[in-house]
Amino acid sequence: MNTKPSRNHPKALLLTAFGTTIPAAYATYESMGQQFSEAFPDREIRWAFTSAFVRKKWKSRGKDILSPAAALAQLADDGFKEVSIQSLHVIHGYEYHDILKTARGLEGLPKSIEKITVGEPLLSDHNDYQRLCDILHAHAKVFRQPGEALLLMGHGTSHPANIAYAGLQEYLRHTDATIYVATIEAFPAIAQVIPQLRKAGIDTVWLMPLLTIAGDHVLNDMAGEKEDSWRSILVKEGFTVHMHPTSLGQIKDVVQMWIEKVPDGRSF
Ligand code: CO
Repeated sequence: MNTKPSRNHPKALLLTAFGTTIPAAYATYESMGQQFSEAFPDREIRWAFTSAFVRKKWKSRGKDILSPAAALAQLADDGFKEVSIQSLHVIHGYEYHDILKTARGLEGLPKSIEKITVGEPLLSDHNDYQRLCDILHAHAKVFRQPGEALLLMGHGTSHPANIAYAGLQEYLRHTDATIYVATIEAFPAIAQVIPQLRKAGIDTVWLMPLLTIAGDHVLNDMAGEKEDSWRSILVKEGFTVHMHPTSLGQIKDVVQMWIEKVPDGRSF
């Protein structure tokens, strides 16, 4: 339930994600929100989804989820003067830059929010890359046997920030050379990673999303039965393929990375 600013909740934190229509993946956002509210007990926590398609779908199910602009307007109407927006995106792509534009557009309007700060996505600086590598390496130990590869499914984008995936691959090479990165929509594609798996003598591959939540892309593009899913492609290429459909938002240590990106988070 929305509350007004008060001595206990002087500021608000707007968690912003693409959104999902898949209820199980939506539950991941809810548990991430829980982790944020434990970290920021003195902040009013709200949500915004950037995808109009996703919001429309939830509206038809009777649930109103606001866009970032509408959520900020609501916070302004509720009397909040300071709002932090935390991007729950993985890289600095179009979605993140759209949040920046929205924040700039709505900050300082008359009788509105005076200060809007925006927290960066998961993979921003050197420490983020190194920390994510370490977390994924430790996480994979739980299910993966020696000699088996872990292939992470990133989203990929035509935005210049797509280089983050190649960057992550380079960091992984130093930490755990049996973890690979490919993307659904851009470079590197799975076709570019398969020859590397062969060259490394890999015959068993675990697939795992490098995505905030395990929604439609995981159900269909990663683990689906259709012949162009990554599972099908790898099986057809002769690999033994296992699924590990745990998303980044389901790994507490990764959510903690996002939590630490909340602007001036430590001062509360
Ligand atoms: Co997509």
